[in-house]
Amino acid sequence: MILGIESTAHTLGVGIVKNGKILANVKDSYTTERGGIIPLDAAKHHKEFSGIILSKALVDAGVSLKDIKAIAFSQGPGLSPCLLEGVMFAKKLALELNVPLVPVNHCVAHLEIGKITGARDPVLLYASGANTQIIAYSGGKYRVFGETLDIGVGNFIDTFARHCGLGFPGGPKIQELASKSKNYIELPYSIKGMDVSFSGIQTKLKQMFDSKKYKLEDLSFSLQETVFAMLIESSERALAHTEKKELVLGGGVACNTRLQEMAKIMCKERGAKFYAPDNSLLVDNGTMIAFTGEMLFKAGVKIKPGSKEFEKLDILPRQRTDDVIVNWR
Ligand code: ATP
Ligand code: FE2
Repeated sequence: MILGIESTAHTLGVGIVKNGKILANVKDSYTTERGGIIPLDAAKHHKEFSGIILSKALVDAGVSLKDIKAIAFSQGPGLSPCLLEGVMFAKKLALELNVPLVPVNHCVAHLEIGKITGARDPVLLYASGANTQIIAYSGGKYRVFGETLDIGVGNFIDTFARHCGLGFPGGPKIQELASKSKNYIELPYSIKGMDVSFSGIQTKLKQMFDSKKYKLEDLSFSLQETVFAMLIESSERALAHTEKKELVLGGGVACNTRLQEMAKIMCKERGAKFYAPDNSLLVDNGTMIAFTGEMLFKAGVKIKPGSKEFEKLDILPRQRTDDVIVNWR
């Protein structure tokens, strides 16, 4: 039984997994009425909630701490103060229980949890706040086939939402507004090969909003149609290039029903299978860390308390998906 801790950004999550089965998935997220994430405040949130979230996860799973065989945690990428809270929490628990730590890459965990839906060797469209990547396994590594050249699609949506006074997170609010419109206003469409960029579209949208000539519903609708089409186009190219037949969604933006619909249509048209885990597994969560951690643990990744490695174990705020050595497949 593996316990997983997620703390890379706004969410503190604890998940418990045994043999690929989810026993608990508990989380609490730092949110704001206006303005974006303040990393130190998010870290404070994680510290404050660690005890409560842990207890709740144990209750949900119906287990006690002594049943836990290892502690997996998100080592990176993410916001340093938040990652630090996570690794301290993980080390404290590992020492208390005298069980090993298993460091997990957050992005890889978004991909691996897709396997819970039955996908075996998918292309992942990973669309979250800070990250936007098209990832697939090839030649011993998870490789990034396409990615954003500037900001993540979630941050892009959140920034625009904040500009319009909608608060954080903006994704669900923009989706709600978009559902009230069918009026497409042309926006820049920015894709180069399999890479995408959002800053030009951002500038344009802000200008349009400030001009007061457009309805926010129409701008929200056009935003979704444009940037989701870019993500789907890039995913389709990756499917064609890798000759893989499965697409998995991951990341908070993948909760968007319009993005899911577009992905489904594209997959159907090219005879690929579409998978999206439950929303509770798409957003940041401790369960994907426990789930991936269990695979690593079974492959021999165990950092025992008292070892030099344990003392030295640190966060990796800028760790890249393709830096990860994949020894569990
Ligand atoms: P990561 O650390 O992996 O980059 P993250 O920390 O930003 O991710 P996630 O929980 O994966 O966290 O994603 C949060 C993002 O998802 C936010 O930008 C939020 O606006 C967006 N989001 C959530 N629901 C929706 C939705 N229905 N439509 C669009 N975006 C959404
Ligand atoms: Fe994430």
